[in-house]
This record gives sequence, C-alpha cells and structure tokens, in this order.
Amino acid sequence: MFSRSVLIGATLLTSTLAWNTDVHNQIGFMAETFFTSATTSILAEILEPQYNKSVGRSAAWADAYAHTSEGHFSYQWHWIDTHDRAPEYCHLDYSKDCAKGGCVVSAIANQTGILRDCIQDVKSASLSGGTNLTCSYALKWIAHFFGDIHQPLHANGRAVGGNTYKVIFGDRSTQLHAVWDGYIPYFAANVSKPFSNQSIDPFFTGLVSRIRKDEFYTMPYMWLACSDPSTSEECATIWAKESNKWDCDYVYSRVQNNTDLGTSGYATGAVPIVELQISKAALRLGTWLNKLVEGVKYVSEEQEIIEL
Ligand SMILES: *[C@@H]1O[C@H](CO)[C@@H](O)[C@H](O)[C@H]1NC(C)=O
Ligand SMILES: *[C@@H]1O[C@H](CO)[C@@H](O)[C@H](O)[C@H]1NC(C)=O
Ligand SMILES: *[C@@H]1O[C@H](CO)[C@@H](O)[C@H](O)[C@H]1NC(C)=O
Ligand SMILES: *[C@@H]1O[C@H](CO)[C@@H](O)[C@H](O)[C@H]1NC(C)=O
Ligand SMILES: *[C@@H]1O[C@H](CO)[C@@H](O)[C@H](O)[C@H]1NC(C)=O
Ligand SMILES: *[C@@H]1O[C@H](CO)[C@@H](O)[C@H](O)[C@H]1NC(C)=O
Repeated sequence: MFSRSVLIGATLLTSTLAWNTDVHNQIGFMAETFFTSATTSILAEILEPQYNKSVGRSAAWADAYAHTSEGHFSYQWHWIDTHDRAPEYCHLDYSKDCAKGGCVVSAIANQTGILRDCIQDVKSASLSGGTNLTCSYALKWIAHFFGDIHQPLHANGRAVGGNTYKVIFGDRSTQLHAVWDGYIPYFAANVSKPFSNQSIDPFFTGLVSRIRKDEFYTMPYMWLACSDPSTSEECATIWAKESNKWDCDYVYSRVQNNTDLGTSGYATGAVPIVELQISKAALRLGTWLNKLVEGVKYVSEEQEIIEL
C-alpha cells in the first residue's frame, strides 16, 4: 500500500511520523504522575542511564530510531493503515489492516510481552542499570506507541495518514498529519514554541488535574475498560478503533483545504479531541505499566497468570 519511507526520503521531517517529539515526551511525563512507587523504581532499572530514570524523557526515542538504518524495521510500527473511506465510512480491521512486518497494535502487544519478562528480570535482580537494550527499547517503544495509537491520523490509511493531504494552518502551507501532530496541540496550549523535553509543561499538568477531577465529557475510569496487559492485542485494537472513528467524526469530515484551519474554527473544534486523546494515552500508559509491574507472576513459559 502506501510507502511512507519514500515520503520521508523526500521531506526528512520527523513531524510526519508521530505527535511531535515534545508531545510524546509530555505524554510520558503525564503517565509518570500515575505511576506507583514500585513502577517508578522498577522502570528506572530498565531505562538506559541517559534518561535519568524518566519514561517521559525516553518517549521520543522511537522516532529518531525509526529514521536510522538499524531501526528502519520499526518505522511501520508507528501506525495502522485502515482500508476504509473517511469521512464517509470508518472501519478498522486488525487482521486485515495490520501490515506484514507489524503495526502499532501488534507492536504494543509484542513489546508488552517483552517488557513483562524484563520486569521479572528486575524483580529477580538479574537486570539493573538499563543494561539490557531489548528491555530498554521495549519500554521506550511502549511509551511512544501509546501516544501514536491515540493520534487519529495514525489509525487511518487515507492520504498516507494525512501526510499528503495539503492544508493551510496559521498562514502556513502544511499537511493534515502535521496539523494533528503539532499545530493543534500548540494551539490548544496557546504556545508558540515546543514543549519541554525535560519536565512536564503546565498545559499537561492541567490535563492531569482534569483527569483526576473527572473533568472530561467521558469518564476516565471508562477509558480503562480494557487495560489488562494480558489482553494487549484486544486493548490496542479498541484504542486504535477509537482513534479511527475521529477521522470520520471530525478530522476528515470538518477539514477544508481552501481555508486556514487555524482561524476557520477547525482548530478550536479539534482542541477537546486532542486533549481527550492525549489524556487517554497518558492514563492508559501509566495504568498499563502499573499493572505490568504489580501483576505479573510466572507459572511457566507457556502459561502465565496475571494477578491484578
Ligand atoms: C535526574 O533526576 C533527579 C530526580 O529524579 C534530579 O534531581 C536530577 O536533577 C536529574 N538530573 C538531570 C541531569 O536532569
Ligand atoms: C517483536 O519484538 C522483537 C524485539 O524487539 C522484534 O525483533 C520482532 O520483530 C517483533 N515482532 C513483531 C511481530 O513485532
Ligand atoms: C534481555 O532481556 C530479555 C527479556 O528478559 C531476555 O530475553 C534477553 O536474553 C536479555 N538479553 C541479554 C543480553 O541479557
Ligand atoms: C495566548 O497567548 C497570548 C500571548 O502569550 C496572549 O496574549 C493571549 O491572551 C493568550 N490567549 C488565550 C486564549 O489564553
Ligand atoms: C530537547 O530540547 C532541546 C531544546 O529545544 C533541544 O535542543 C534538544 O535537542 C532536545 N533533546 C532531545 C533529545 O530531543
Ligand atoms: C482538496 O482536497 C480534495 C480532496 O482530497 C482534493 O480533491 C482537492 O484537490 C484539494 N484541493 C486543494 C486545493 O488541495
């Protein structure tokens, strides 16, 4: 189907790949606020030292890695391309839409399984100090893919995930994917420069406090209806379907490529969607990692019991 590597070769824009890197960092920082102390200390032993024990700081690595020749195999893990017809018809079918070689749903499932082993290794004192790269990568990928799977244009095949759909935003020519990756989050936060990649930004602290105070139009506990890491494929499919639905409900149904999306009302209408999707990503990530740390108990190689 679509070959994004061609596109990347032509544009060399990391923004064509995912929420902007700083937004990924911020989703990770938000997730950290939900960690139990056990999660914080166990994950600190999994990450390489350069991240100073912070999942948020590590959450953008996957984009840079996907653009190296060593990491190119993971490039397609950042999205799932549906074969539907937004905005008329949105439909995600995991078994048909997940490309050979993987997609964001299978990658979350695969890396969750690896990370579970890594957590066992830390618990049994055979891993510390971030010395096992398979483990550090698994955590960094999960932190990143929880962000991606909540970006509506990472769950839609139209126009290469919106990358070739030209639009205008704030007087600039850009494309729809970049609008959702960065322009709208910056618009929502009313900032003119990127967010920090070192610590949580006030806009995201605000989202955390809204999650805790139940100030979204859907209730945060319902976002966790599927949150058992032993059913990772099922949960990730549900989350990708939610994202895909936004492509019909807003992203492509309201877009106009002959008006400025920054001033036409499109951006304003997109703010609650972006805030919701980012908040879901962060709460789900924090909860997922807590459950992995708390719950995993091995019975044998083949059979696992998850205690929650
Ligand atoms: C690393 O994190 C600790 C607290 O977790 C903080 O005190 C320290 O300043 C951080 N170091 C760097 C280089 O950010
Ligand atoms: C699962 O993860 C391993 C280690 O990162 C990787 O080598 C493998 O290709 C992955 N498989 C799938 C289907 O994602
Ligand atoms: C890293 O951890 C994984 C998961 O436990 C394990 O399968 C692998 O053998 C480890 N690699 C090294 C080099 O120890
Ligand atoms: C956005 O920021 C600008 C400049 O920092 C400020 O003048 C303006 O009042 C802000 N708008 C909102 C809606 O907060
Ligand atoms: C973090 O942000 C600073 C300032 O924008 C930038 O110079 C630096 O390259 C970023 N670090 C990473 C790892 O992206
Ligand atoms: C606007 O989008 C439609 C549908 O993708 C396309 O057919 C049309 O050529 C676009 N117009 C411009 C000016 O890009």
